[in-house]
Amino acid sequence: MTEIVRYERQGTIAVVTIANPPVNALGQAVRQGLWEAFDRFAGDDAAVALIVGEGKLFIGGADISEFGKPPLEPFLPDVCTHIESSRKPVVAAVHGPALGGGCEIALGAHYRLATKDARFGFPEVKLGLVPGAGGSQRMPRLTGVAPALAMMPAGGSISAQEALEIGLVDRVADGDVRTAGLAFAREIAEKGAPVRRVSELPNPQFDEGAFAEARAVWKKKARGEIAPLKAIDVVEASTRLPFAEGMAEERRCFLDLLDTPQRAGLIHAFFNDRKVAKLPDLEGVAPRTLAHVGVIGGGTMGAGIATSCLLAGLSVTLLERDDAAADKARSTISANLAAAVKRGKLAESRLEPALAALATVTDYAALGAADLAIEAVFEDMAVKKEVFTSLDAVMKPGAILATNTSYLDVNEIAGATARPGDVIGLHFFSPAHVMKLLEVVVADSTAADVTATAFALARRLGKVAVRSGVCDGFIGNRILSTYRGAADRMILEGTSPWDIDTAIRDFGLPMGPFEMGDLAGLDINYMTRQRKAATRDPRDIVPTWGDEMYHKGWLGRKTGRGYYTYQDGKASPNKDVEPLLEEARKGHRQRPLGPDEIVRRYMAAMVNEAARVVEEGIARRPLDVDVTLLYGYGFPRWRGGPMLWADTQGLAGLLDDIRSWETDDPYFWQPAPLLVRLVEEGRTFSDLNREDAQ
Ligand code: COA
Repeated sequence: MTEIVRYERQGTIAVVTIANPPVNALGQAVRQGLWEAFDRFAGDDAAVALIVGEGKLFIGGADISEFGKPPLEPFLPDVCTHIESSRKPVVAAVHGPALGGGCEIALGAHYRLATKDARFGFPEVKLGLVPGAGGSQRMPRLTGVAPALAMMPAGGSISAQEALEIGLVDRVADGDVRTAGLAFAREIAEKGAPVRRVSELPNPQFDEGAFAEARAVWKKKARGEIAPLKAIDVVEASTRLPFAEGMAEERRCFLDLLDTPQRAGLIHAFFNDRKVAKLPDLEGVAPRTLAHVGVIGGGTMGAGIATSCLLAGLSVTLLERDDAAADKARSTISANLAAAVKRGKLAESRLEPALAALATVTDYAALGAADLAIEAVFEDMAVKKEVFTSLDAVMKPGAILATNTSYLDVNEIAGATARPGDVIGLHFFSPAHVMKLLEVVVADSTAADVTATAFALARRLGKVAVRSGVCDGFIGNRILSTYRGAADRMILEGTSPWDIDTAIRDFGLPMGPFEMGDLAGLDINYMTRQRKAATRDPRDIVPTWGDEMYHKGWLGRKTGRGYYTYQDGKASPNKDVEPLLEEARKGHRQRPLGPDEIVRRYMAAMVNEAARVVEEGIARRPLDVDVTLLYGYGFPRWRGGPMLWADTQGLAGLLDDIRSWETDDPYFWQPAPLLVRLVEEGRTFSDLNREDAQ
């Protein structure tokens, strides 16, 4: 018997313990161990078997690292069926999460007990899959189709209490899972309770309306993702097929999905979510204490940052220049918190305490006790330096001084203080209390424990932190400005902004670049162009129509007119932009692009600039770019990220394309040296990720 699954007798009960830290994932050794344990149970005189997980949870699911590799026996559906076919009762006692395969093992048992902290869920769709070991066939037989339709296409989970209410578990217990499980198992042994196989229950009732509604909702929500709709299909199979056929149908669907690029993209994203915080310079570095945050500036960004900190239970002191501005900031934050209550992000009972943890002040001295100050004032170096000089004068030793700049030189800002080691960039994305990305901009002198604190803060705020070096725009906005540049060039060559938006949306982003510009405000692009004018390479092109739109006051949504006109919540192309485009196109070769070509150019520009960002060490690894684009720019998670997209397309073909466009536009389409090198060496961005991890 493998150590990873222990079999021991407690009187008449055979206790089968899964001990595969950190999450008891159902890798091959666990499956083998479970198989052998139930063979042994069949052959000894124990009356009832009890399955428990050791450590902080029952089972975190199938071993995700095995997906995409040749499958190894015994397969999980067979293990579940092996457990279920026991002639003596089997009890599963669940604490913490029982996810995916974990839920399926519990469903293979005849009785289920949950401690109060247990959660049951099927997150497979988040990995591009559907349940693959009977979950879609057993759960609806036990609970009816509605709870399965609520859970499986969403990849959601439910609490122990909810599981009890829908009949997924038989009992919810207090205290230690092993003790409670043993007591339940003994009760079953003493009563001589029968074996109850979920697979032997009748088919759940087909509910035409429920399936039609689920399909309508998920067709819209899935935005190109296949798995949610497949999850509905397999649940439907449970209503019409005998169990064994339903299992075969589910397995076929699972294996088909296992082979898709979407599965590869989503699993890439799953592991990247964890790898992104694994940085050698932070290993073993303890973060500083963080309980009290100062925020300088109460505009949209400052108020959003303050809201995010309050939602995470931190106290916040927000500094504004006068009482009126401070009051305005307070009311923005109150409205943000009230909206968070409405969205279910903040318990109603926590609203008052969160507001009580906010102080609005007008004097820098009030920030003296803060552990961290984040400035979100006007993007101007002189203004930033003034703020940092003032912070340096009042903040306690060991406090962290952070800037939320989106492009300014953090080294220069740090130089305005006598403690550059305590200075860091914390680039939030707007709205800061909603967007998940936090770019942690590490300057030359930033101390390692300051960076570690920034990562700890991100975790506390429920955000994903990506380490970035210092450059104009850091990782995300620098890459954005390049692919925006590619879109502008397409316009000059005859493609319409609306066609570009449509192609990019169809590729899977929530918005195209021009819709995005309208949302953010076209004055932002104008300001950026103005700022860069002095250093612009004469070979670069300027979207002159953008300047004209700015001067006409077409600033996007906020003025009701930009690339689109906005009326009664509906956006339609603003055809008055056409003449401006026609004027700008004069002298340029006209070659309008189709949707595939639009995507190819847009993505090639993104990948080429990203390769530079990696080569310069602004992003440590390609995966840091992938995570940035996913969480800050709406890149479709099921594509994994632009670097995985590039690997999947083939770097050589991409480089060939860039070289072919280089002939026409040698300034913009210079191949990144890293891309050239990878192609020459027959390597990929994924290889770079792997090499960094070694
Ligand atoms: N298979 C393989 N590895 C897994 C895993 C799985 N099902 N679930 C988690 N891990 C790994 C993580 O990659 C991480 O590894 P690392 O320490 O090398 O980075 C480690 O286990 C801990 O996971 P983490 O997510 O950091 O722990 P947590 O306590 O915050 O959360 C879970 C635990 C189980 C809730 C969470 O890991 C999770 O949701 N896992 C995925 C569950 C899933 O999708 N299961 C269905 C598979 S079909």
